[in-house]
Formats: sequence, structure tokens, C-alpha cells
Amino acid sequence: MKPKSKILIIAGSDSSGGAGIQADIKTVTSLGSYAMTAITAITSQNTTGVYSIKSVPENEISNQIEFTAKDIRPDAIKIGMLHSEDVIKSVLKSLDKIKVKKIILDPVMVAKGGAKLINDQSIKILKSHLIKKVSILTPNIPEAEILTKLKIKNLSDMIIASEKLIKLGAKNVLLKGGHLNNTTLQDVFLSENEIKIFKKKKINTKNTHGTGCTLSSAIATFYSCGKTLKKSCEMAINYVNYSIKTGPKFGKGHGPINHLCTININKKFK
Ligand SMILES: Nc1ncnc2c1ncn2[C@@H]1O[C@H](COP(=O)(O)OP(=O)(O)OP(=O)(O)O)[C@@H](O)[C@H]1O
Ligand SMILES: [Mg+2]
Repeated sequence: MKPKSKILIIAGSDSSGGAGIQADIKTVTSLGSYAMTAITAITSQNTTGVYSIKSVPENEISNQIEFTAKDIRPDAIKIGMLHSEDVIKSVLKSLDKIKVKKIILDPVMVAKGGAKLINDQSIKILKSHLIKKVSILTPNIPEAEILTKLKIKNLSDMIIASEKLIKLGAKNVLLKGGHLNNTTLQDVFLSENEIKIFKKKKINTKNTHGTGCTLSSAIATFYSCGKTLKKSCEMAINYVNYSIKTGPKFGKGHGPINHLCTININKKFK
């Protein structure tokens, strides 16, 4: 097959391959599109934890975005963790220059263990500028709590927080419910005039490394191919769910999901 569309991913590298840029490339590829990257940071990590993080200077991040997009125009952009105010500002400038309309922002701020990954100044500019520029925002519950300053304990709190994010200037929101301790997981999609609750049975596994990155890249891929945002979210949630169910059980800690679950290798290459 030929690639269906072209996606530019702006995110950090995860050396263990389960999350970050690596998960994004695998997702975009497994769903039939062409992946390009602007790497924001290099992490040394495995399934048991992060060993070190080295940031890429903001002008190099902008160079990757602008020089790549000048030649191969992305149909959509997925943005993952942006670790500092300067990085957010230079990404904003580059986005203004390349003028791609379909942008998915995964506003990564909180690690799986609950630690804040970016400082207050970065959160402020993300909230005041970046969320207004993008097509959809995909926070998890702790991130939505930080952005809205609301406590989220159940589905109705999730809906109220999503409404507040729209009031703050987000065009569309997918608030992920993975952090509520229920047997059914609910993700809330909200736009100015539409709401949809996606429900899935919680899969009992510790291997959910990179689910958030995978979800936002899958949304970017489906959206870039012409699906509506609501349909893109639904299909992306199904892809993540099937990838968790078929996880390869690699590593001693929180292992990766199975990005390859969509792929059948041609006989010639087996
Ligand atoms: N155990 C599980 N079973 C089924 N679906 C899950 C499970 N864990 C997460 N999901 C789904 O995965 C998607 C990502 O949600 P999650 O809340 O894990 O995002 P996140 O916290 O941003 O992830 P990450 O820690 O990778 O950044 C959501 O659609 C969520 O419903
Ligand atoms: Mg996340």
C-alpha cells in the first residue's frame, strides 16, 4: 500500500520504544500513514522507569519542524510533551509559519506516578496560547485538573471540566478517563455543540506504557485522512484497546502495547 497521509510528530524520544516518538511512529505507520518527526527531548528509559532526560534546544526543534514541513507538507500534526516555556513559544512560532490546520495536542504534564513534568510558567502559556491553536486537546484527568483548577472524581466532573476547557478556548476536547478507578473506562469527547461518551471495559493489565501517546497519534492519523474528529477519537480508542489486549508482555515493569496489531505481513516478506 501507499501511505494514506503524512503526519508530523513533535514529541520526545522513549528509548524503550513503547511511548513518545517511537510509539507515535509505530502508530502512524501501523494505521497506514507516513510519519515525520521533530524530537523535543531524548530520554533513557525502560519499562521500570526513566533514567535520564536531555532536552533538545528550542531552535533545533523549530528547525526540524520548519525544514521538514517545507518539503513534505504534513496533513496533520501531533504534539506531545513540550517541557519548557521557551520550547512552547518556539513551537508556536513554527506552527504559525507552516500553517497546518489539523493539530492534535496531547498536553503531557503529569507522569504515570503523578509527578508534574513541566513548570507553572509552561502550563500558563500552554493554557493561554497553545490550546487555542489546536483542533483537539487530549488531557488525562490530572492534566485536566491542572488546566481547569477543578477536582475530577466522576463522569459528571469530567463533563464539567471539558466544558471549562472549551470556555478557555479549546475547539474540541477528549478527556481521558484512564485515571478513574472504575471497571468501565469512560473518555469524554466534547465540541461546542456535541458530546459523546466512549465506554470501554477496563483491561486488567500493568502493560499500558504509551497509551496516551498512541491514542493522540491515532487520532491525528484518522483525522488527517478525512474522518471527523469524533469518528477519529472513536477509531483511535478502539485501536488502543485492541493494542492493549494483544500486548507483547515485554519488560519487567509497565510494558508496551502492541502497535502492530493492525498488520499482516505480505507472504513475500515472511
Ligand atoms: N487498562 C485499560 N483498559 C482499557 N483501556 C485503557 C486502559 N488504560 C488506559 N486505557 C485507555 O487508553 C487511552 C489513554 O488513556 P490514559 O488515561 O491511559 O492516558 P494517559 O494517562 O495520558 O496515558 P500516558 O500515561 O501514556 O500518558 C484512553 O482511551 C483510556 O480509556
Ligand atoms: Mg498522557
